[in-house]
Amino acid sequence: MLKQALQIVIERAPQVFRPGTKLYKSSSGPAILTATSIRSRAISSLTRTSDYSKTISTRSFSTSRTMASTKSFIEVVKGRRSYYLLNKDAPISDDAIVQLVNDTVLNLPSFFNTQTARLVVLLKAEHELFWDMVGEVLKPIVPEADFPATEQKLGMFKAGYGTILFFEDPAPVKALQEAYPIYADHMPTWSEHTSAMHQFVLWAGLEAEGFGANLQHYNPVIDLKVQNHWKVPLEWKLRAQLVFGGKAGEAGEKTFKPLEDRVFVHGK
Ligand SMILES: Cc1cc2nc3c(=O)[nH]c(=O)nc-3n(C[C@H](O)[C@H](O)[C@H](O)COP(=O)(O)O)c2cc1C
Repeated sequence: MLKQALQIVIERAPQVFRPGTKLYKSSSGPAILTATSIRSRAISSLTRTSDYSKTISTRSFSTSRTMASTKSFIEVVKGRRSYYLLNKDAPISDDAIVQLVNDTVLNLPSFFNTQTARLVVLLKAEHELFWDMVGEVLKPIVPEADFPATEQKLGMFKAGYGTILFFEDPAPVKALQEAYPIYADHMPTWSEHTSAMHQFVLWAGLEAEGFGANLQHYNPVIDLKVQNHWKVPLEWKLRAQLVFGGKAGEAGEKTFKPLEDRVFVHGK
């Protein structure tokens, strides 16, 4: 019975005791949870009446904001497209953009609640600087004859209003791999899934607010320059760049593979 209960607590542990979680319970400052301490806390919680989760500091965040869009969720999903022709028109304020990013980061799921996504939001001049940097990095790499086309493409991105850089922090992944070797091989993939979820929600969320956006992958060649400039920890992995701005043109034609080849329903 105790063994069974212990197993349940250990399996649930990551949701309550996350690596990196700060526990504010002593006067000597916050204690950071490690993978090993997760297990020992899970075990000791069985023999105590108090609940450790109650000692975890919970900061309250305001997540309420007025959405410009009155579309249903699926309408937003259907409306999201890749928009490459962008301009500097912003349908919402910078604060509302940041709020959208904050709401996304706080509320999206992550494997074992590891919360590995790290986002850098670049607006206006900082966004333009980013795309200038991409050009500087690509110039010596791209064949000279091809560079004008590359430059033109980068100019399209620079014409937008902002870029969100999606990083993943490998530290919580490593801690969980050590704590749960049986799942270790899957965890880097799950970290990618977590990042992709953030990318999609912000892509669709920005669209719902009236922006157009497109997704780019100039990593890894730009990583070092970008991480040095914006003081991003070098361990974090850049996974994607979401460019957004006012819509200056339509999305391209899109073809659809038949649903019959892609969705299979049983038991209806
Ligand atoms: C995982 C993923 C990676 C993508 N990478 C790029 C990219 O590097 N550059 C680009 O221009 N578009 C990229 N796209 C956009 C796709 O080409 C685009 O979503 C697809 O053609 C369907 O068009 P739609 O976005 O208008 O629905 C990517 C999309 C996904 C989901």
